[in-house]
Amino acid sequence: MDTFECIITKLDVREFSNQDVPSEIRSKVLEAARLTGSGLNTQHWRFILVNDKQNLKKLAEDSTSGSWVRDANFAVIVLTNPEYNFHLVDAGRVLQNMQLAAWNHEVGSGLFTGIREEKLRGDFGIPNELSPTIIVGFGYPARKMTGKSKKRLPLDRLVYYEKYGSSKSSTASDSGR
Ligand SMILES: Cc1cc2nc3c(=O)[nH]c(=O)nc-3n(C[C@H](O)[C@H](O)[C@H](O)COP(=O)(O)O)c2cc1C
Repeated sequence: MDTFECIITKLDVREFSNQDVPSEIRSKVLEAARLTGSGLNTQHWRFILVNDKQNLKKLAEDSTSGSWVRDANFAVIVLTNPEYNFHLVDAGRVLQNMQLAAWNHEVGSGLFTGIREEKLRGDFGIPNELSPTIIVGFGYPARKMTGKSKKRLPLDRLVYYEKYGSSKSSTASDSGR
């Protein structure tokens, strides 16, 4: 899939079919994570791949906003090191790359950040120096995603030109174009 097409068609998925995701696609998702650039190339992140149904159930129980992960085919716990002040930026980059790599193969994904941290740390053996920043669940969507659209603000509400508050038309007239 073309990259732009992948970005504009990807929606977060929270309902999954029980069709298995082939292991090659799972590997590509992890490879996309590995190849993501991190601040100063520190690669401070670590990833826990969760495949086992019982462990997916535990993940759901350890969450406050992602109980749907129970029905995912697999999930990835993204751990980052909060000593780096850019660790959340890194987490976002790695998340998006994994989601796009999956969606390129029509595998949907959803994330959650509402975590019962102590419980999760105990259940998955997470060391104190790493933060469980994001959990992403993957699987084929339960329903066709075509026809669904993103609810997003229009560009003219989001983008200013050259200076905060300046719309495109005012910039164009200011410069005589
Ligand atoms: C920082 C962040 C935190 C999020 N936390 C949750 C969460 O805890 N649970 C959840 O179901 N979705 C979570 N989401 C997913 C958002 O709700 C989703 O990206 C947004 O609704 C847009 O979805 P769409 O691309 O399908 O339109 C989170 C997204 C981001 C970027």
